[in-house]
Amino acid sequence: MSHKTKVNTKMLVGAFSGAIVLFFSASSFAENAVMVKVDAVAAQRLAHKESCFRCHHVSKKKEGPSYQSVAYKYKGVADASDILVKHITSGTDRIKLSDGHMEDHKFTKTKDIDQIKNLVDWILSL
Ligand code: HEC
Repeated sequence: MSHKTKVNTKMLVGAFSGAIVLFFSASSFAENAVMVKVDAVAAQRLAHKESCFRCHHVSKKKEGPSYQSVAYKYKGVADASDILVKHITSGTDRIKLSDGHMEDHKFTKTKDIDQIKNLVDWILSL
C-alpha cells in the first residue's frame, strides 16, 4: 500500500516538472522569434474589418503596395511605427488608384490606438 503511494508521487512530480520545462521553452521561443510583441491574429482581424485587404495583400501588389514591401521600405527607420500609425489614422492621405480616380486613403475607423499600433507593428514585422 505505502509502496504504491510512493510510485504515484514520483510519477506526478516527474510529469509536473516536465510540464514546467515545456512551458518555459515554448515562451522563450516565442520571445526570440518576434522582437516586438505582435498579435498577428488580432492585426489581421482588424485589417479585414477595416477592409485594408481590399487594396493590400501580405506578399502581392494590389492597388496598394504589399505589406511585405512596406516592411522592407521602412527597415531601419527608427520611428516607422509612429509614421505609419499617423498614415492610417489622420485620413489626410490621397491615393491614386489604377483606374485613375483619386480617393482618400482608407483610414482606420477604430479609435483604439493599441489595436492600430499592433496592426502597424504586424505589417512592419513581415
Ligand atoms: C482603396 C485602396 C486602399 C485601401 C482600402 C487601403 N490602402 Fe493602404 N495604400 C493604398 C495605396 C494606393 C498606397 C500607396 C500610396 C500611398 O502610400 O499613399 C497605400 C499605402 C499604404 C501604406 C504604406 C505607406 C507608406 O508610407 O509607404 C500602408 C502602411 C498602408 N497603406 C496601410 C493601410 C491600412 C492599414 C489600411 C486599412 C485601414 C489600408 N492601407 C487601406 C491603397 C489602399
